[in-house]
Amino acid sequence: MMEMTDLHRQALDLAPGLVALRRELHQYPELSHEESETASRVARELDRLGIPYRAGVGGHGVVADVEGSLPGPTIALRADMDALPIQEETEIDFPSSRPGIMHACGHDAHTAMLIGAAELLSRGKEQLHGTVRLIFQPAEEVNAGASAMIEEGVLEGVSEIYGLHNLPTLPAGMAATRYGALMGSVDRIEITLEGKGGHGAIPDQSVDPIVCASAIIQSLQSIISREVSPFDPVVVTIGSIHAGEANNVIPHYCRMTGTVRTFHPDVQEKLPERLERIVQRIADGYRCKAKLDYISQTPVLMNHDDPVKVIESVIDETLGSEYRVIAKPTLAGEDFSIYLKHVPGCFFWLGSGPKERAEEAFGLHHPKYWLNEDCLPYGASLLAHIAKFRLTQLSGGHA
Ligand code: NI
Repeated sequence: MMEMTDLHRQALDLAPGLVALRRELHQYPELSHEESETASRVARELDRLGIPYRAGVGGHGVVADVEGSLPGPTIALRADMDALPIQEETEIDFPSSRPGIMHACGHDAHTAMLIGAAELLSRGKEQLHGTVRLIFQPAEEVNAGASAMIEEGVLEGVSEIYGLHNLPTLPAGMAATRYGALMGSVDRIEITLEGKGGHGAIPDQSVDPIVCASAIIQSLQSIISREVSPFDPVVVTIGSIHAGEANNVIPHYCRMTGTVRTFHPDVQEKLPERLERIVQRIADGYRCKAKLDYISQTPVLMNHDDPVKVIESVIDETLGSEYRVIAKPTLAGEDFSIYLKHVPGCFFWLGSGPKERAEEAFGLHHPKYWLNEDCLPYGASLLAHIAKFRLTQLSGGHA
């Protein structure tokens, strides 16, 4: 395992460059579907490393292949690039220069880590089996980028795929994954209720969609919890509700949007029918017309067993087994799950929190979210190791 140790040492040498790149990306965040500058920055790094790439894949996606000198299959590594519509409230000295936009999920760090992995892998091309496909993905936050890139062929010829997400509540230097389901499914619901508007003082001449909406919101919680096993988590959250303008007028319409999360594919599958039934029957009772749009966005993120083993052994060799933990399941979603519907692979958490009391750190998507930059070389090192180790293994060589 001398070779792996050497790769890790090289990763640590890359740290200053990775920090500089991450800070630059942090200062110029771009929202989903708007990552043109970030993509150009990635392209410039790939040019510097002499790695050929294709830009404009599935929006602003960039795909590059590092081809080893030895024969073997193709392994993909993926990083996401987009930022969030959040006003930064940190006290760092390189904050976002764009009002209302922030890298509050650390995709700036993911992008820098994959560039670091690219550098490590291309330096060691002579000993590399097969090909490492680098996927710089746009529009993760809106669950659109993975599908768009897959449609443009990024998984063609790929045997397995790996990716990571930083986790500020886990100290930098640690990593975590899990067999089977790691993250929840994400679906969007849109409900429109049509009543009959009228005077707020004469409800009998109207059909009130607001009262109907309140009944539906309440019932969604209790009915779902009575129909699904308490051991199969389901979250239905109504996140927006819009109806009416005046205090004394019953409006015509009420519109709501929400998010639905599950942790088992078979539970996710049955939810559209259940929600449709609840919404329609309650609306009937209140004489409203209801329309439910159930928009499937991402499946449950299911890791595959052999790739989990790969990640576990690479974490143990690179960071040390005492720094590997079993990830807790979460209903937060990730469109990496869509790649895993096409090819086997594994997603893992990389600690990005403070060394002490990380569990109290601000979480992902928080305006005060902070990333411990010590995690950058660890991420680059793990990604490069995973690809190299697995390609060697699949090529029948000694890993
Ligand atoms: Ni994220």
